[in-house]
Amino acid sequence: MLSLEPLNGPLGCAVHGIDVRAGLARGELRALCDALYEHRLIVLKDQRCTEDEYNAFGRLWGEPITHIFGDDRVPGHAELLTIGNTGEHQRDALIRNSSAYWHTDHAYETEIATATMLYAVKVPDTGGETRFADQKAAYDELDSATRRRIDGLKAVHSYAATAGRDGEHACAPLSEEQAALAPPVRHRLVRRHSVTGARALYAVAGTAFAIEGLPDEEAQVLIAQLKAHATKEKFVYEHRYEVGDIAIWDTQATLHCGKPIGAPSGPGTERVLWRICVRGKPACHR
Ligand SMILES: [Fe+2]
Repeated sequence: MLSLEPLNGPLGCAVHGIDVRAGLARGELRALCDALYEHRLIVLKDQRCTEDEYNAFGRLWGEPITHIFGDDRVPGHAELLTIGNTGEHQRDALIRNSSAYWHTDHAYETEIATATMLYAVKVPDTGGETRFADQKAAYDELDSATRRRIDGLKAVHSYAATAGRDGEHACAPLSEEQAALAPPVRHRLVRRHSVTGARALYAVAGTAFAIEGLPDEEAQVLIAQLKAHATKEKFVYEHRYEVGDIAIWDTQATLHCGKPIGAPSGPGTERVLWRICVRGKPACHR
């Protein structure tokens, strides 16, 4: 029987008593969705599943997104990416830590992602955590003048535009071909959630590099102010994975940031997580 347990922070809850391999019983997906939209992050504990079983579970949450950069795809599974520090590609520090800055997945695309999940296959003894920041709580705490100012504004986003700023980890620069696949797009700074309708700050860090209609200097100041507010410690939970965790977060209402990790150097240092990212609505809300 499914049970929820709050995590040790301002957002997130652990979910016990569910086995994604077996498929979800009637009402279980709805219960998980309710928990996700209430807590922003849910961590399904003690899972064990194959690539196919995980993919089938992922499709319940929306339409899987095939990442425009295919280097980390799990062979034979275009919708699955390997995140971590193993494999030749991930021995490069910039690539290995390409999520080590505050961002929202796929905010650089026109059609936004609605959920991301990571299944912890291998976990190092130390390091490799992900930090999550609650963007509904951050919006709710804005003063009314700031809300009025930003409610109608649109940010301009580009892939990893602000990685490397504010002391954060840099990303590997895009090749010309990659940049051509990800031209700038626009999203409202404040979005209404596609299921709940709740307002939240959206992707004010990571990809937002300009604001439509604002002079660049003014836009940079506003983006920096919003990021500083949105990533305050009081909105942040840091998750340390255990093998078998499936962490699912609401990309419409969170920012996240991987902690930098080194290359593997022996037992207890490898990190392997399988990532699925989806857009659209979960099956129980279609
Ligand atoms: Fe990410």
